[in-house]
Amino acid sequence: MSKMGTSVSRKDGVAKVTGTATYSAEHQLSNLVHGYVVTSTIASGQIQRIDISEATKAPGVLAVFTHLNAPKVFKPKSKIYEARLPLSDNQVHYAGQIIGLVVADTFERARDAAFRVKVDYNPQTLVIDATKANFKEAPPNFGEEMKFTTGDVASGMAKATAKVTQTYKSSTELHAPMEPHAIIVDWHSGDGATIYEHTQWVLGSQRTYAELLGISAEKVRIISPYIGGGFGSKAFPWSHAILCAAAAKEIKRPLKVVLSRRQMTALAGHRSETEQIIRLGANKEGIITAIDHEVKSLTSPVDVFTEPCTSITPVMYKTDNLRLMQELAVMNVGVPTFMRAPGENPGMWALESAMDELAWNLKIDPVELRLKNETKIHQRKKLPFSAKHFDDCLKVGAEKFGWENRAKEPRATSRDGKLIGWGMAAATFPGLRGNASVKVRLLRSGTAHVLTAGNDMGTGAYTVAAIIAAEALQIPVEKIRVELGDSRLPDGGLAGGSMMSASMAPAIMAACQEVLKQAKAKTAQEAFALLEKSGGAAFEATASSKPGEESKKFAFQSWGAHFCEVAIDETIGRLRVTRWLSVMDIGRVINAKTAASQVRGGVIMGISHALMEECHFDPNIGYPVVYDLATYHYAAHADIPRIEVAFVGEPDINFNPAGVRGVGEIAITGVSAAIANAVYHATGKRLRSLPLTPDKLLA
Ligand code: MOS
Repeated sequence: MSKMGTSVSRKDGVAKVTGTATYSAEHQLSNLVHGYVVTSTIASGQIQRIDISEATKAPGVLAVFTHLNAPKVFKPKSKIYEARLPLSDNQVHYAGQIIGLVVADTFERARDAAFRVKVDYNPQTLVIDATKANFKEAPPNFGEEMKFTTGDVASGMAKATAKVTQTYKSSTELHAPMEPHAIIVDWHSGDGATIYEHTQWVLGSQRTYAELLGISAEKVRIISPYIGGGFGSKAFPWSHAILCAAAAKEIKRPLKVVLSRRQMTALAGHRSETEQIIRLGANKEGIITAIDHEVKSLTSPVDVFTEPCTSITPVMYKTDNLRLMQELAVMNVGVPTFMRAPGENPGMWALESAMDELAWNLKIDPVELRLKNETKIHQRKKLPFSAKHFDDCLKVGAEKFGWENRAKEPRATSRDGKLIGWGMAAATFPGLRGNASVKVRLLRSGTAHVLTAGNDMGTGAYTVAAIIAAEALQIPVEKIRVELGDSRLPDGGLAGGSMMSASMAPAIMAACQEVLKQAKAKTAQEAFALLEKSGGAAFEATASSKPGEESKKFAFQSWGAHFCEVAIDETIGRLRVTRWLSVMDIGRVINAKTAASQVRGGVIMGISHALMEECHFDPNIGYPVVYDLATYHYAAHADIPRIEVAFVGEPDINFNPAGVRGVGEIAITGVSAAIANAVYHATGKRLRSLPLTPDKLLA
């Protein structure tokens, strides 16, 4: 019998390691043809002339689309990543923008012909240098004002005996999920489409494509059983996918478009670089008197996206005087977007670095400083946190790591000729939840099916759904079959904002209860026996769950603490992360195994962000200077130590009946600060600009 909190291996594990899991580009359709996008070589200006004559005559070519013969798409009400519709005019807003689509009988022929499209541009001056960009106050972000003040920071700072005022920078990071962006669109009978595309939001995709194509939602079917990583880049349709869907209708053949890594660097999302100024004041006891957080980030001419770094500031530390402020400038780049802990990750980089600086300034232990200043309420929502155990993350973490043995001065520890440093930082992410519906079916064979149009982008959702159903039905987890990722199933909600488990689990619990009620049985075993007796095939029920009034009474937030060790060879500027411990409070842990994997994945992505990842845009042509997984430097196995993970806390039953808050994003937050804080402890050098590359570490 499976119980919540136990460790269950992935339901989809065998399919994935044996290659039978089908990803978007791998669906086999007869009569399939291939599209290759043509992209701009300038970053700003107009297309003066586009000559497709040679491309059209190339072998195997079936169609060439440009802004002069763009396939019809409608402006959707729902969100798409890039608000400008593909091929809508002759304007070019960033290098690598889609300016055409070539369709041919093979991928190679489509690509070959795409390079035969000749374009004359009228180039304009590009804005690609953030230091010369025109920053303005950021507009509200999904309904939330980006500016907030309570109390008076100046008077709070006047009361402070210890002060930190520093600027922290983070780099542009590219989305690089293992599975590149790919889509197949099949307009079978001509009046509806089946779309094979990885999506973090199956029903959202269905609705959005229906709006884009001007047909009703029932005429669109989305199939997305497996996703090779999303991280925020697969939640809404991108331009290449919209173009594929529209073009497929015109050519009346199933059409596949796969982006190359190089195309992805320019047009499939990134995390904007940030520049953040943090001002902290504290009295000599270490009680914070003021927090001021100013952020600059960048967006694109084709849409608005603010990296919302100040979302974490009101939740972390108590202060009567708080000021938040975000500014945004437009550059000639593709649209930045959600990337694992959007805002929280760079925000915690700045705040948790500044907290460490304040701790050294006060000569107070950084764990102690955080414990002293914990806030029991969300200082913007003015609501108490539900089931908050941040203090346990800090205390348990310090004890497990042996934090009390830390040298009290920087540059005090060395091993094998390398400087050793210990650092720590906090982690946080909100508890979010959406609507979800689930169908549960009990079969005479003694198995149960859980059916919902949620999805598993590698997070472990298949397994979590099975565990919840096994628990509710009191049958072994092996007897549960889970189907996700098909829009014909009931709406399972969005796998974003770390909310899939919190949305889906209560609906599964409700559907399990409902199916027993339908069967007039107390237990699943009893229901199976009834089927056996009656010869009936199955009992089936659908139930839904949604957030209620709870968010008017409580603020829901997950918490964590990272502790790490670095070893630095100053003669060559080499930094190795040699130890890692993360302690997390995420409400109920449904599957300890996949939850710990989520934490490890977040820490790995955080180490990568801290030490390696950055993308510069060529100042002359505006194109990202990195163009694949070799030139975009990110962490490999050899860069990662063993990552120890522990969970503390309790089920957050104020939040939902399953008590789960989710774990997808929290672990990346605070990682870069923990490392930079360890670098200071090792070397006495305070690094405030990511990534922490060797040049910054040389003696
Ligand atoms: Mo996540 S960045 O909300 O997919």
